Parts: sequence; C-alpha cells; structure tokens
Amino acid sequence: MPGLLSGPVSLTVIFLLTWLIRRSCAQIWTDEVSDMQYGRLGANVTLACGKAKIRTPVVWHLNHSAALPWHQVTSDGSLVLHHVDHSAEGVYVCHDNQGLLLHSVRLRLGHPPGLLSISCQVPNHTHVRCSWVDSVKTFLPPQYIASFRNGQGWKPCVVDVIHKHCDIEDSTFWQPTHTLNVTEVNALGSQTTVVWLRLQELLKPDPPESLKVEEVESHPKRLSISWKHPSSWPRRDAFPLIFQIRYRPKGSEYWSDVYSEDSSIVIFDALAGHVHQVQVRARDEVNSDTQWSEWTPVSLARTWQVSTTPDPPEEPPPPEYIFPFNPDPETSTMRTHSESTLLIG
Ligand SMILES: *[C@@H]1O[C@H](CO)[C@@H](O)[C@H](O)[C@H]1NC(C)=O
Ligand SMILES: *[C@@H]1O[C@H](CO)[C@@H](O)[C@H](O)[C@H]1NC(C)=O
Ligand SMILES: *[C@@H]1O[C@H](CO)[C@@H](O)[C@H](O)[C@H]1NC(C)=O
Ligand SMILES: *[C@@H]1O[C@H](CO)[C@@H](O)[C@H](O)[C@H]1NC(C)=O
Repeated sequence: MPGLLSGPVSLTVIFLLTWLIRRSCAQIWTDEVSDMQYGRLGANVTLACGKAKIRTPVVWHLNHSAALPWHQVTSDGSLVLHHVDHSAEGVYVCHDNQGLLLHSVRLRLGHPPGLLSISCQVPNHTHVRCSWVDSVKTFLPPQYIASFRNGQGWKPCVVDVIHKHCDIEDSTFWQPTHTLNVTEVNALGSQTTVVWLRLQELLKPDPPESLKVEEVESHPKRLSISWKHPSSWPRRDAFPLIFQIRYRPKGSEYWSDVYSEDSSIVIFDALAGHVHQVQVRARDEVNSDTQWSEWTPVSLARTWQVSTTPDPPEEPPPPEYIFPFNPDPETSTMRTHSESTLLIG
C-alpha cells in the first residue's frame, strides 16, 4: 500500500518536523536554565558547553545577544571570560554551527564570605542574641551555621538568616567566658568567625516600662514617679534590679538623680510650678559588672499648684444673665435693700 507521503514531499515534511522539534527544544531550554554557575568577581571564568566533548565549532550568546564580554572559546567549545565583573552575569547559551542549542547556564558572580563583625545583646539571664554584619559584600545568598559553647559543650545558636542574628536560650551565666562560632557559607566558600563572650559584662536589661510621673496634691515641690520592670526581665525575686531615676525642670541643663530598688518613689525637691522631665533606667542589682539599660523615653509632669485645681470654664456668661450680675453699685444696693425689705415684711 503506497504511503500518503512519498518522494521529495515526505523528505521535506520530515526535515520541517525535525526543525520544529529542535526549535521548540531550544525554546524550552532557553527559558528554563537548568544549570547555575558561580564565579568570583575579577577572576577568569570558564563555562563548558555541556558535559559531552564537542567536536564541531560552537557559538556562545549572553542573554540572546551576540555581544559577549571579553572572552575566548577554547577548542573543546568552552567559553573563557576574562576578569569578569557584574556585566558578565546572565544566561549563556551555546549552539552548534547549525543553530542547535547544546547547553545553557546562568552565571552569577560574587565573592566568598569574609569574617563577620559580631555583637551580642543579653537582656536577661537566660537569653543571648548575637547579630552580625559582613565585612565583605558577597553579592551571593548566604547560609549561616552558628554554635555556642558553655562548659557542657556546643549548643546550636538558632539562626535568622534575614535579620542576620542567632538566639541562645538558657545560657549558663556562671561560666566566665563562652565561645560563639558563626560560619557563613555561600557558593564560593565558607568562613568561620569565632568570638569569646563574657555574658556578665554584656548583661543589659531592657529599659523599664510604663513610666508615670504625677503631681502630689497640696505638695508643690513633690513628684510621684512609678514604672514597671522591663517585661523581658523575669524572676524579679531571683535577679533583683536597681533603678536610677533622673529629673530636672524642663529647660534646665542639670539632672538630679536618685536610686531605688522599688518601682516607685516620691521626690521632694522638685522646682515648684515647673514642668519636669523624668527618665528611669535599670541594672542588675547584684553584679555591678553588668550594664545599665537605656533610659526610658522622657516623661513630663508639672508639680502641684493652687491654680491647678479645676477652674470653672472661663466662657462669658450668656446674655440673659448679664443683667442680674450687673456690677453697678447702686443696683446691687437696691437689690440688697429690697430683699431686706422683703424679709422684714
Ligand atoms: C586570566 O587569563 C589571562 C589570559 O589568559 C591571564 O593572563 C590572567 O593571568 C588570568 N587571570 C587569572 C586571575 O587567572
Ligand atoms: C542578562 O540578564 C540578566 C537577567 O536575567 C541581567 O541581570 C543581566 O544584567 C543581563 N546581562 C547583560 C549583559 O545584559
Ligand atoms: C568553633 O571554632 C573553634 C576555633 O576555630 C573550633 O575549634 C571549633 O571546632 C568550632 N566549633 C564548631 C562547632 O564549629
Ligand atoms: C529574655 O529576653 C528575651 C528577649 O527579650 C525574651 O524573649 C525572653 O522571654 C526573656 N526571658 C524570659 C524568661 O522572660
């Protein structure tokens, strides 16, 4: 039975089909780059045209364009880019001399990690948070592995990659020093930074909360000041805090201060009739090697004044009441007179 297609026509159709298949493969491959290659900025980067040895000459393109950064194609079809900078980043494809796509690869450039600059905050006796900043801008996504050593061995420090910090719960404060390792890893390498910490010296409570300053009725030189423990400071009985309170009349350059173990005091030497600024901060009471918290935001209050008792509203009286309160002495006298007359009568 003779086929539907025969002779030169079928050959043409087969050729066309092959070409179409090749075209569609090329399209898929260009859009979905399977390989990612990382290179160091400033170095020479070699991109291989697929894994198989290529015998035919190949052509390379970057981002669908023929313009390539300074380059050289080796005899096996690899592309060598010299002294690359960010302009060499993008999607590279290599074709054979008939236009068949052989390989595609996305090139990303950057630097291996450098040392980190690490600082730690210790807001209470069971929590340590260490944050870091990179000394090298790597341009590549990092991963961090962090661990912490007390006398009992290494423990993980739980990493937040986005905010570049890690948290340790349940630290052992009685150890004089602790070790923290943070290893940054990216596609081009890794670097470990080691720091030694003295938690005692880093302990710095959060500032006290809910600072309230009020006048003391009938006492023009007193102010009543109260506040709450920082909410991140648990176990007040086991770890008492000492508070420093400072105050000054608004506009004055000099603070007066006073210390307290309680969370309220009354000061007796305020400047009568003035608005005062007040702030409080806290520190671990037992260990003076620890740090003072930041000051609370300034709280303002005026001392008690006679005139601070609520005044009647100072609106002008409505017109119809003006007449009876007319301050004309004669009218007043007459009114008194007539009232007396009335009483007598
Ligand atoms: C990069 O290649 C050029 C040319 O082959 C060579 O002179 C240079 O030393 C290479 N640079 C590096 C960093 O390898
Ligand atoms: C190539 O495209 C990528 C985005 O896929 C872009 O970041 C890069 O700058 C482009 N490179 C060039 C040389 O146009
Ligand atoms: C932390 O760093 C020290 C010193 O480089 C090293 O001896 C130790 O093995 C590291 N520990 C971890 C868990 O990486
Ligand atoms: C210690 O401080 C941290 C950070 O503010 C807090 O999340 C944690 O709850 C505090 N610990 C306790 C036991 O309150």
